[in-house]
Amino acid sequence: MLEVEGRLIDASNATLYCTVALDGISAACVYKPVRGERPLWDFPDGTLAGREVGAYLVSEATGWDLVPPTVLRDGPFGVGMCQLWVDVDETVDLQALARSDHPDVQRLCVLDAVINNADRKGGHLLPTSEGRVYGVDHGVCFSVDDKLRTLLWQWRGVPLTAEAVDVLERLQTDLYGGLGERLSEHLTRREVRRTVRRVEQLLLSGLHPMPSEDWPAIPWPPY
Ligand SMILES: Nc1ncnc2c1ncn2[C@@H]1O[C@H](COP(=O)(O)OP(=O)(O)O)[C@@H](O)[C@H]1O
Ligand SMILES: [Mg+2]
Repeated sequence: MLEVEGRLIDASNATLYCTVALDGISAACVYKPVRGERPLWDFPDGTLAGREVGAYLVSEATGWDLVPPTVLRDGPFGVGMCQLWVDVDETVDLQALARSDHPDVQRLCVLDAVINNADRKGGHLLPTSEGRVYGVDHGVCFSVDDKLRTLLWQWRGVPLTAEAVDVLERLQTDLYGGLGERLSEHLTRREVRRTVRRVEQLLLSGLHPMPSEDWPAIPWPPY
């Protein structure tokens, strides 16, 4: 059972705050119906909701727990993405967090390079009172063209951590197996192949990516 409680006002698509309940257990979530998606010329295939699920699947495969659990499911406005709500610590300064060396932010930076995130704004970082940081809003990821657009450039050209290298090596294997199959339910074959290639390039260089000169490397607005 999914019930709509309200609309998130600064959202660009239909982004709804909801509760889900089963067997007496309930949780808050975000629900973005596919029907509410604004068509984007540069993402002609699949759905934004499917890309959000794809980002969750990659996050899950890293073991880093960076994207709140996200599924495709039916709701009052049809099929959409449904993502667990994260209680944000409102006292955290997002500008400072986005420039910090918080380990979760650095891991998000690696995740974004893998999923080719075109929209890592400050408002898409969710800090919790336990000191964790989650990332949300992954509708414009997995393009076959390089589109990495993020605020998090503090590690540009810096060697990846040993932990990140381990994770990328595991991802590489997993993308040829179960993860690749799960992603294919939401992305085109080309998009999955490009994801493999981005992982390979990261492992080859051993470095965090540099901002491109060919496209805007910072999202607008940045927060
Ligand atoms: N899972 C979540 N938990 C808590 N807050 C969230 C979650 N997802 C989104 N939000 C909040 O709602 C805002 C709008 O959601 P977002 O996913 O960015 O929607 P849109 O695709 O419309 O931009 C986010 O900037 C964030 O503040
Ligand atoms: Mg957003």
